[in-house]
Amino acid sequence: MEKLTSKRHYLDFNATSPFAPSVSEWLAKGDLLFANPSSVHATGKRGRKFLNEARSYIYKTFQLDPKDFHLIFHSGASEGVNALVKGRALTLMEDSKKLNFFRSASDHSSVRNMESDLELLGHTMTIFPVLETGEIDVDALIKMIKKAKGEVLLNFTPMNNETGVCWDWSLASKIKKETGCLVHMDTVQTVGKVPGWNNLDSEMDLFTYSAHKFGALKGVGFSFIKKGFKFRPFISGGGQQGGLRSGTENTMGIYSIKLALEDLENEDLALIQEAKDLFEEKLKALLGDKGHIVGEKAKFRAVNTTSFITPGKISQNTAIQLDMAGVDISTGSACSSGAVIPSKVLQGMGYSDEDAMSAVRVSFGPEFKVDQVDDIIEKFKKVLNKIL
Ligand SMILES: Cc1ncc(COP(=O)(O)O)c(C=O)c1O
Repeated sequence: MEKLTSKRHYLDFNATSPFAPSVSEWLAKGDLLFANPSSVHATGKRGRKFLNEARSYIYKTFQLDPKDFHLIFHSGASEGVNALVKGRALTLMEDSKKLNFFRSASDHSSVRNMESDLELLGHTMTIFPVLETGEIDVDALIKMIKKAKGEVLLNFTPMNNETGVCWDWSLASKIKKETGCLVHMDTVQTVGKVPGWNNLDSEMDLFTYSAHKFGALKGVGFSFIKKGFKFRPFISGGGQQGGLRSGTENTMGIYSIKLALEDLENEDLALIQEAKDLFEEKLKALLGDKGHIVGEKAKFRAVNTTSFITPGKISQNTAIQLDMAGVDISTGSACSSGAVIPSKVLQGMGYSDEDAMSAVRVSFGPEFKVDQVDDIIEKFKKVLNKIL
C-alpha cells in the first residue's frame, strides 16, 4: 500500500516525527518486545536486556553520567514535566516550604497549564517575559529570581516549539551560577534540530524529552534527574524504576528511542539549515510586505523551523489551503468550540491578537534537502497568491 505521506510534504516535525527508518525496519521484523521486563523468566529477562541497552545508549548519547543522573522513562514530556515540578512541590510541602516555579511567557502548554494545580497546593508560578525576538533578557531574569520568595525552579526552554527561537544553553548555566536556583531544561524540541543538542550540561538539574518528537514511538519519553534532587513520585505502584516512576516500563517504546537516536548519529544539521535558508528566502519573496518570519532577528533559531505571520489572515484558513495543496503544517493558534484563539507563544512575544491568529509553523525533518525546496515553494505560492 502506498503511504499517504509519500505524495505529500509532511512539514510538521515539531508536532511529531514519522518513525525513524530503523524504527520502521524493526517494527516490520515483528520481533516485538512484549514481555514484562520485571518478569524473572527468560522472556522477561530478554526485555530487560533491551531496556538496559537503551538506557546505556541514551546516557552515552546525551553525555551524562549514570553516577550523577537518574534516567526515568515515562509516557512523554507532559507527564515528565508535571511529575518533576508537582513532585518537587509536594516534597517541599513535607517541610512546609513553597515552590516558586518560573516559566516564560512563551513556554509550552504542558508547562503553562500547571499553574492552577500549583496554586491549589499553595505554591506560585511566576511568568517571566520574553523579548519581541522570542529571546530572554537574562540580566532582568536573574534580578527577578534573586528577589523571588520560595524555592525557585526555573523552566528553561532552549528551543521554542512554535517559533524555533533558541536560547543559548549557556544562559541557563549563568542563571544557575548567579542565583543558585534549580533548573529544568525543557529540551523536548531540541533533538536533531539544534547544534549541540546531545551535549548536555551536567550542572543543570533536570532534562525532559518526548520520544515521538525524534522518530521513536509515541507514549514514551524520558527525563534525566540530578541525583540529590528530591521529588515525590507522581505515580505510586509497583516501585519500578527505583520507585521514581512506578508502572510496567514500555520496553518497545524505550528500545525505539535507541534506534531513533542511532539514526540521528550521522545527521548533518548544516544540510537542513541550508535547505531551510533557501526556503525562507523564497518564502519571504512570496510574502513581500504582507507577512514576515517570526523571530527572524533572534541570534539563534532551530535549523528546521520557520514560523511566519500574515496579518489579517486567519492561520486555520492558510492551513486548510495548504492541506488541500498536499502540505502538512501547523498553526500556532488553537481552535476551540469553533472560535480561533491566538497563539499564546506569539502573544507572549508581544504580537497583537490579530497577528497571533495568523501564525503558521513549518517544521522540517532530518531528510530535508535543497532539492525539495522548489516543489514546496510552488505549493506555497499557489496558496499565498490566493489568500494574500
Ligand atoms: C517544548 C515542549 N515541551 C513539552 C511538550 C510536551 O510534549 P508531549 O506532548 O509529547 O507530552 C512539547 C510538545 O510539543 C513541547 O514542544
